[in-house]
Amino acid sequence: IADIESHIDHELVSKQQIEDLIQKTAVRISKDYQGKDLMMVAVLKGAFNTLAAISQAVTIPVQIEFMSISSYPGQKTTVSNGDITVRMDLGCDVRGRHILIVEDIIDSGYTLHWLVNELKSRGAASVEVFALLDKTVRHEVEVDVKYPGYTIPDEFVVGFGLDYDEQYRNLDSIAVLKSDEYLTQEQNQGESA
Ligand code: PRP
Ligand code: MN
Ligand code: MG
Repeated sequence: IADIESHIDHELVSKQQIEDLIQKTAVRISKDYQGKDLMMVAVLKGAFNTLAAISQAVTIPVQIEFMSISSYPGQKTTVSNGDITVRMDLGCDVRGRHILIVEDIIDSGYTLHWLVNELKSRGAASVEVFALLDKTVRHEVEVDVKYPGYTIPDEFVVGFGLDYDEQYRNLDSIAVLKSDEYLTQEQNQGESA
């Protein structure tokens, strides 16, 4: 496997832009949750970098919890189908808690739509969302996002936690891969058949 940079076609959001957004958002969160008992819930795996960054940038105490959710059916696919799979549930009670869900990206919106409703139905006192990226043109369901990130076009992006076939999560910026990295829909169906 060649160096990660050689797989990249172009950068979409730089390391600096990510840092700027995290910093601005952290100031808002620190103010809004002043005196409240904040719990951040990161949606694994994609949100691991965003969680690390935002949790270190806020200036208030925060409890950190993880939940692993997948919305993509196969492995080598770039399309979500709305089927939510909980790979690992939260290990704590959310009743009466102020929750901030930390996500890397909103695509169809199915993951967040499901999770917001789920945490509310478990009795959370409040549930808000911070998502680093938003592919607004791809929304199938609407999600109320209190702390929005960068709106990006409908290109399949990797980096800062986001993967393609479980690779590229360790890139420190958001980028688009060279087109020959992605299997086409037809190839994908052929593979899984
Ligand atoms: C990706 C991404 C979001 C979700 C967004 O996760 O990290 O969690 O999809 O898509 P949606 O708005 O269409 O639901 P994925 O299912 O690939 O799991 P991962 O985080 O482990 O990569
Ligand atoms: Mn994810
Ligand atoms: Mg993924």
